[in-house]
Amino acid sequence: MKRSESHSSIAFSKIGREIQPPVIVDLMARALANPELLSLAAGFTDNAVLPRALVGRFAMELTQEGQAEEPLQYGQNQGRQKLRELSCDVIASHPGEDRSAYDPVNLFLTNGSQQALYLAVQALCDFGDIILVEEPSYFVCLEMLKGLGIRAMGIPCDDTGAVQPEAMAALLEDLDAKGERDRIKAVYLVSYFCNPSSRSLEADEKRAIANVLLEGGWQVPIIEDAAYRELFFEEAHSAPSIISMPEFDAFPKLYLGTYTKPFATGLKVGYGYCTHPEWLQKILGIKGHQDFGSAHFNQAIIERVLAEGLYEPHLQGIRKHYAHKAQVLESELIDGGLRELGWHWETPKGGLIIWARAPKGTDLRMESAFCQQCIDQGVLYVPGDLCFSSGEPWHCARLASGALPEDRLREAARRFVAVAKGE
Ligand SMILES: Cc1ncc(COP(=O)(O)O)c(C=O)c1O
Repeated sequence: MKRSESHSSIAFSKIGREIQPPVIVDLMARALANPELLSLAAGFTDNAVLPRALVGRFAMELTQEGQAEEPLQYGQNQGRQKLRELSCDVIASHPGEDRSAYDPVNLFLTNGSQQALYLAVQALCDFGDIILVEEPSYFVCLEMLKGLGIRAMGIPCDDTGAVQPEAMAALLEDLDAKGERDRIKAVYLVSYFCNPSSRSLEADEKRAIANVLLEGGWQVPIIEDAAYRELFFEEAHSAPSIISMPEFDAFPKLYLGTYTKPFATGLKVGYGYCTHPEWLQKILGIKGHQDFGSAHFNQAIIERVLAEGLYEPHLQGIRKHYAHKAQVLESELIDGGLRELGWHWETPKGGLIIWARAPKGTDLRMESAFCQQCIDQGVLYVPGDLCFSSGEPWHCARLASGALPEDRLREAARRFVAVAKGE
């Protein structure tokens, strides 16, 4: 018989008292639990293009005895040396990068880039500190900051997500005047095929951000999240990373990359490249306390894939696939007549998302009638207000094209358009 236990109350920490489960966990659980609910919300990759053969082959090989750096054993806190080297090669394979600028000493492997982001922020921020983010920004990061008691503050951007340098300078002046200068701890940019706006920051835009910060004397850490950089459809985005742009020389920098979206989300291997030795040591110190090393076996699998030159061919295949998925979702929205209803979006050039904006004034929040009708019709999306630090505006929706098979993706789009039409 089950014992009935009475729980006495616990005096939780500030984080424990204030923590709310992230919306993403709920969205993912709903998508997984109910196959009838078509999710345009969960940012999953497509099961159809998961690298089963590669992972299967290397999992077999790596479980044979006598492997170098035994993959079934604990590994190093910072991650496997060879994979750190190969990850530098991956970053340097993009336009505007120079391999000699990357030293594996600065690279650490993590349980997805999400962990790297969390560690980096923990090392920098106290309760009440500020991180500047684009508008819109990655909503899981916004929720994470909230959970840590950190204030995310939006860098002024236009409707498409393009940064407005003059307004940014004005915001910084305002914060300075309010005595908040020392509270601004970092700038967080999702600069390649952004989740959610799907746009990429141009080199000029990045330069403008650096100049605004330099002119105001704000040499704060810059975190560049490049989770989708590999997932371009036709062409790699031309802007170099902040690591390679001289305008950012004066800043402590952290570049985040991942093998989840472009390879296998389930292996959950990501990385950070940090140019500031002290910040890096703090990050590694916290990581040591947290898990003293991410899944060693998973790292070893990815290492083999890269070492044998099999990563790039894999990427070439999935790029075509995700380009097609984005095109399927977009054409269904267009053919359904969403544009005629005054909705607009930019055609994505990479990533897994369409950032759709209804006519201003439309309410698409979680508690809105629109959202409820979508759930009733069996389709989920991410309400765009979650992607803004202020929770406004309310008329945007993040629609993910990655996960659903093509026929279900079409059906999800049809259901979404039907709700927009009031059918
Ligand atoms: C912009 C962005 N950054 C980071 C992550 C975290 O990815 P992972 O921890 O799987 O590497 C995601 C996942 O959706 C993302 O969209």
